[in-house]
Amino acid sequence: MSNFIAQMEPWFGEEERRAMDEYLAEGGWITEFRKTQVFEQMIAEFTGAKHCVVVNNGTISLTLAALAVGIKSGDEVVVPNYTMIATPNSVNMIGAKPVFVDVELDTLCLDIELVEKAITEKTRAIYFVSANGRYPKSGIEAFVKLAKENNLILLEDSAQAMGSFYPDGTHIGRKGLVGSFSFSAPKVISTGQGGALITDDDEVANKLRRLKDFGRSGGGNDIHDSIGWNFKFTDIQAVIGIEQMKKLSFRVDRKKEILRLYKECLKGINQIRFFEQDLEHTTPWFIDTLVNNREKLQQYLKENQIGTRVMYPPINKQNAYLANGEHPISNKVGMDGLWLPSAAQLTDDDIKRVCDSISQFYK
Ligand SMILES: Cc1ncc(COP(=O)(O)O)c(C=O)c1O
Repeated sequence: MSNFIAQMEPWFGEEERRAMDEYLAEGGWITEFRKTQVFEQMIAEFTGAKHCVVVNNGTISLTLAALAVGIKSGDEVVVPNYTMIATPNSVNMIGAKPVFVDVELDTLCLDIELVEKAITEKTRAIYFVSANGRYPKSGIEAFVKLAKENNLILLEDSAQAMGSFYPDGTHIGRKGLVGSFSFSAPKVISTGQGGALITDDDEVANKLRRLKDFGRSGGGNDIHDSIGWNFKFTDIQAVIGIEQMKKLSFRVDRKKEILRLYKECLKGINQIRFFEQDLEHTTPWFIDTLVNNREKLQQYLKENQIGTRVMYPPINKQNAYLANGEHPISNKVGMDGLWLPSAAQLTDDDIKRVCDSISQFYK
């Protein structure tokens, strides 16, 4: 029997093992210190941001970004109705209200016309989510302009966008006041858990550093001018992250090739459709598709040792929120959206096997 092709798998190798051995031999304190600073520096350099602050995951990073820019309980924050639920939860955690807005069918990013309609007196921010590394058809500049005109803060949830750029060459996450990344297990690069915040604003960066470290006014002291908590990283994760960053460019190229190969292999099959992806600038994190007969296809692929994953359901219909409103695009993705095997370590033969099985099913 052929081996199982997982929908996604993190990828750690000999380099991470060796780096970890060396770190432990040096007698590090495990908690965040010099290795974390190196990791932050690498992310700042790669993205071109002035500051990078890493925290323990890509959900708390969203909350800290919201806190650092002054979002408070009772404020409304526009979020896409198609996203990982961490986006709305992150603002819900501080008592702010996520307002769900539908996405564009081509990119799964916020639809700017609908965002405009959702703005009220209480709206303080827009959490723009780069769905699968994409930018909106309207262009991110339109969001920057809209935010400015309405005195709103633009924040970016770029959890899925490490290695993806806007067409002008700016890394995704840098057009908002703060951009947030995740290094959870399925991401292009991973530290098991982990999040990173990038910003060019000195004051916001300073606030972020305090918020994650008990509100300390400086490294290691016990002087607290403001409230903060403990959302620190560890040097163990940073040691892994440093090695993963060295592999990022290769993985970005490979992810792009994987999408190209899928598209080529599945060209004649009308029952499966891809979203738009600008492969010159952006990197697909997962291979996302709309498919006919989703549940049966998923079952058939599973029987053929191929893992897939149903895409996010519309958030306003999740029991966690049950918010009024019909959002046709996120509803459609909730019914027909399917992620195909997407790991960077897939071979061309693996992808052909997946495509053959899909073709077989639709015959
Ligand atoms: C868009 C988006 N935001 C936030 C998160 C949350 O990140 P984490 O799992 O690191 O908390 C994810 C994780 O998948 C995500 O895809």
